[in-house]
Amino acid sequence: MADPDAETGVRPAVAADRWPSPFASDRDARDANGGAYPPDLSVMAKARSTTQPFPWWILNYFTAYSEGGPDYIHALLMGYEETPPAGSEVPDGKYYNHVFPGHAIGMPPPLADGLVTYETAEDGSSVPATAEQYSRDVSAFLMWIAEPHLVDRKETGFKVMAFLFLFAVIMYLVKRKLWAKVDH
Ligand code: HEM
Repeated sequence: MADPDAETGVRPAVAADRWPSPFASDRDARDANGGAYPPDLSVMAKARSTTQPFPWWILNYFTAYSEGGPDYIHALLMGYEETPPAGSEVPDGKYYNHVFPGHAIGMPPPLADGLVTYETAEDGSSVPATAEQYSRDVSAFLMWIAEPHLVDRKETGFKVMAFLFLFAVIMYLVKRKLWAKVDH
């Protein structure tokens, strides 16, 4: 891995390294992608999340769907249309995608059926080698890399809230006991 700070200019890669860019410069990246800069995807699943006012986000728990984040990425990857609907113009070097704001995206469709095959499980079941499946997997992965400690954080949060609730009940009972003999 190239590193100007290393003595010889290269050093063994570590897990915390960023993925090296395939482009020599930002300008090269834009030139290769119809003028659009391919964004860093490390926190994209969080960057594209949407906020819903209370109580609407509660519905997400029941429908298992939320509009933004990994669901947006999945929809975006599946949102390409070879023939744009009548009346819409797509500039050269752009692709029609009905999910992308403005519908003309600089990213060529990155997924297609049959690109990789999955291993067959011991019970004989296997995952279909379809763009739809890849897109679900890659979106879930992007959510995980965007916040690897999300599950731990929520578990801790739940325990803290449960503790605070119990503590409040106990404190209320203590207060009643302490003040029971005092006229007030
Ligand atoms: C499975 C792999 C990929 C995923 C999950 C992915 C995902 C994304 C996402 C989420 C965006 C942001 C869209 C937004 O702003 O709302 C994006 C933008 C973009 N991606 Fe990809 N991408 C992938 C592969 C690629 C590849 C292979 C290229 C280049 C050949 C590419 C080039 C771009 C470019 C140029 C943009 C900016 C589009 C614009 O602003 O018009 N992506 N990508």
